[in-house]
Amino acid sequence: MRVTTTTQAPVDTAADTVAIGVFEGEDVAHDLDGAPLQALLDSGEARRTLKHLALTHAAGRRWLVVGLGARDDFDAERARAAAATVVGRLGELGTRTLCWELPHRLDEAQVGGFVEGTLLAAHRFDRYRAAPPEDETPARVEELIVSDHHDVSAPVERAVLVAEAQNRARDLAATPPNDLTPQTLAERARELAAEHAALSVAVLGRDGIAAAGMGAFAAVTQGSDAEPALITLRHEPADGDGYDLGLVGKAVTFDSGGLSIKPAASMATMKFDMAGGAAVLEAVGAIAALGLPVRVVAVVGATENMPSGRAMRPGDVVRARTGTTIEIVNTDAEGRLVLADCLAHARELGARRLVDLATLTGAILSALGHHRADLFADDDAWAAAVERAAAATGELVWRMPLDPEYGELIKSPIADLVNAGERGLAGSITAAEFLRRFTGDVPWAHVDIAGTAWDLGRPYAAKGASGWGVRLLVDLARAVAGE
Ligand code: BES
Ligand code: MN
Ligand code: ZN
Repeated sequence: MRVTTTTQAPVDTAADTVAIGVFEGEDVAHDLDGAPLQALLDSGEARRTLKHLALTHAAGRRWLVVGLGARDDFDAERARAAAATVVGRLGELGTRTLCWELPHRLDEAQVGGFVEGTLLAAHRFDRYRAAPPEDETPARVEELIVSDHHDVSAPVERAVLVAEAQNRARDLAATPPNDLTPQTLAERARELAAEHAALSVAVLGRDGIAAAGMGAFAAVTQGSDAEPALITLRHEPADGDGYDLGLVGKAVTFDSGGLSIKPAASMATMKFDMAGGAAVLEAVGAIAALGLPVRVVAVVGATENMPSGRAMRPGDVVRARTGTTIEIVNTDAEGRLVLADCLAHARELGARRLVDLATLTGAILSALGHHRADLFADDDAWAAAVERAAAATGELVWRMPLDPEYGELIKSPIADLVNAGERGLAGSITAAEFLRRFTGDVPWAHVDIAGTAWDLGRPYAAKGASGWGVRLLVDLARAVAGE
């Protein structure tokens, strides 16, 4: 979708459909001759209740009045939801060019919310079918024009970059695992590096991972014929030492569980077990596109987790890059093995703060469902920074505890650690405790996105891959950059 901004009134644009939001206690800002929007409100057909929608035709175009609720309660997330409601009607209206007439006195985040909500809600993953089924009339908007009294091009452009990155992360997670392999992700990282001068990439394959002494990551890769990839993507807008931010992503392109094989129903959606890695890659692309003055190193561990004659076995003991030994008691707890070496790698490369994103545990679905991701952190200030970014972007988190007592649950009788605690006992926390063994004294935050990466249930990303984390990471990078 092409996106432009204008200070002209909607009637002076080429839009075939105009959307106007109205707050409680307020009226349509400019009623236009022959477009009786105010009359629509007065008659009660249009309402100011959040997401209420009314349609009229005038001046040769369609007008959608959408309720925004109370101005005091309004934020970027509500703007996204209101935009998604509008997009939901555009398919049946046959809209090609949409104009948003923004209400007066919005802040930049709210302006961005309308744009993000429009682009995210209009996004479809239909690469694999000839045509949408008869009973679906998806929005086919070609252009979005954002009209406001003053110039909103800066927040609009930022929102477009971030929403497009998020949509690309969704596409990566939605792509079937026979087409999206670890090497496909490596290729995507190379594409990003070719696009942006400040980005550079290095990729290690099976031999490189083993040669680097990453025995935990290597153990996961060994059951699969697909060549794994340890992807290191750097954003270096200026010379400097180390990295302000280290982003780490789990990218298991298919998680069968390995020899501790998953039941068929749980395995069916395991193509999205690379959602954390996809969000990290696309967030770095957005950080580069935005030109944020922040040095970032991203480490994405990409592999399949498969059963085979070469697969890791329950009972195996492996040695991670840090020297820590791990007794594998469940081959389905593979994400933490991948991340152990990726976190250590990011730290060795000089990351001064770490965040990892991973579809790590099913237990988090029991705890928080699809609405929030859980946050673990060993540094209160860093946790607070992640919480602020989460609140600002609507990608909500809830902080969970780390206590030495939970660490007791992952002690091995023969090695330093086991890779899984007792089933049904604080599964997300023991996974985080495991990761903590590999982050040293670098402030670290872990976000378990097993519940939010798929079927998020938001109006603009209800079903399928959500691209969760792209907005959060970009906002966090902006905060780290001091913007
Ligand atoms: N990728 C899964 C976690 C997952 C489950 C993500 C459901 C999304 C939806 C992860 O690798 C896994 O299998 N975790 C196990 C850990 C257990 C064996 C300790 C789990 O959660 O059951
Ligand atoms: Mn698993
Ligand atoms: Zn997994």
